[in-house]
Amino acid sequence: MDLISIRDLSKKEVEEILQSATEISKKEKKPNLSGKILATLFFEPSTRTKLSFQSAAMRLNMTYIDFLPELSSLKKGESFADTIRTVEGYADILAVRHAKEGSARLAADMSKKPVINGGDGGNQHPTQTLIDLFSIKMMKGKINDLNVTLLGDLKHARTMRSLVYGLAMFNANITLISPQGLEMDPNYLKEVEKKFGLNVKIMNEPKIENADVLYVCRIQAERFADPYEAQSIMKKFRIKKEDLKDAKEDLAILHPLPKVNEIDPEIDKMPQAKYFEQAHYGVPLRMAVIDYVLKK
Ligand code: NCD
Repeated sequence: MDLISIRDLSKKEVEEILQSATEISKKEKKPNLSGKILATLFFEPSTRTKLSFQSAAMRLNMTYIDFLPELSSLKKGESFADTIRTVEGYADILAVRHAKEGSARLAADMSKKPVINGGDGGNQHPTQTLIDLFSIKMMKGKINDLNVTLLGDLKHARTMRSLVYGLAMFNANITLISPQGLEMDPNYLKEVEKKFGLNVKIMNEPKIENADVLYVCRIQAERFADPYEAQSIMKKFRIKKEDLKDAKEDLAILHPLPKVNEIDPEIDKMPQAKYFEQAHYGVPLRMAVIDYVLKK
């Protein structure tokens, strides 16, 4: 199977992957995929997604090969499609990130080997959502009925789009807060509502007192048509300690990272800040995903 969108997974399948990641992280299970090769093809910058995929592969006794766009035949004019057609012959599974929406689906169409989407433009980032659901489950013991607030650039962030779908699947109560003009696409919300029903509040001011989980993301400057607009929003958009004064004591603050300006460094020191723990869950979760995709 391919994992291109969070829509590719049923609730049952998501639960199976989360269960497998739990067993892997508790060392109750250690799949052995020795002899298999993962190819990472990241046409957009990445720290966590690429390195945790590679770390996950090594921990599964696999090896990996890494495509570096800047040093590749892309520079001689080779197409994305030809690159995928070539690399699929060198590996057993491909993790692909690209700035264009739909690129991962195209890669999956080109490749006989399974493709995992590591982020396609502002569209989808399904393995990040699985990490987010896994983190919430590990930290809170459940997902359903939690109050989860998503805060940031909800128009351009693929992490947020995938996550709304995943949270709705588990009946969380969702609050969406963004600067004006950066709201999530209403058509996408309609799709999610039709599928799962959606308990959602939409706001432009940060109000977090009822949240069990606050999930922040950066302004996705690289996806703005006008870079000056992005810069001006980035300057104003920042969560400070005082914004959290009425927050629940056991609030968990998550962030897919990288963070730039949007979280005051003071918040990093608060016990509620859990984003590095969340990033570290990327390894057991991606181990579970690679194992799942290869065995399906
Ligand atoms: C995110 C991404 O690439 O979409 N990072 C990640 O994968 N952890 C978030 C972002 O870039 O803002």
